[in-house]
Amino acid sequence: MFDTMTMTKAVGAVCGSLLVFMLAGWAADGLYTVGGGGHGEGAEGEITQAYSIDTGAEEAPAEEAAPVDVAALMASADVAAGENVFKKCQSCHKMDGSDGVGPHLNGVVGRNHAAVSGFAYSEAMAALSAEPWTPEALFAFLENPKKAMPGTKMAFAGLPKPEERANVIAYLAANP
Ligand code: HEC
Repeated sequence: MFDTMTMTKAVGAVCGSLLVFMLAGWAADGLYTVGGGGHGEGAEGEITQAYSIDTGAEEAPAEEAAPVDVAALMASADVAAGENVFKKCQSCHKMDGSDGVGPHLNGVVGRNHAAVSGFAYSEAMAALSAEPWTPEALFAFLENPKKAMPGTKMAFAGLPKPEERANVIAYLAANP
């Protein structure tokens, strides 16, 4: 009687243990499978991100290609519209040969950087004094002065719209 009970308990215990081991085994398999799947997804996720970075890289040349379009933009630029854009510059820049917070900008197109004598340019600007202000250079600078020329004293957020930049450059070029 007791032996049978003991046997039953023992068998029950063994079966229970086996069941636990089996469940543990399945669970482990499940974990490994999930783990493997997770890695696979992770790798795919990384590949997907790599593609999105590639897409960004594809967009970047498009932005870099913008300066190549400067000539085309300049060809269709509007001096009158540029005079209107220049209102954003007027608090600091004049077009009559006198200087304010910023140097006078009449004649700036083709003039070298930091070429107005007597104006206290930043070191960043003065360092470029051998380079002329081409429409391309103005185009790049005016988009975001602080980003294009770290250290510039020009406290101006920039003109993000290419047309506005082209127009204001056309206005500057029309005032030698
Ligand atoms: C808040 C004042 C301020 C505003 C607004 C401003 N600038 Fe300037 N700008 C300056 C200062 C100051 C400098 C000198 C920067 C330096 O030395 O780093 C400068 C320099 C320049 C230069 C270089 C001139 C040279 O002799 O090398 C150009 C070109 C220029 N600005 C164009 C513009 C245009 C175009 C606008 C409007 C879209 C504008 N700036 C708006 C203050 C300003």
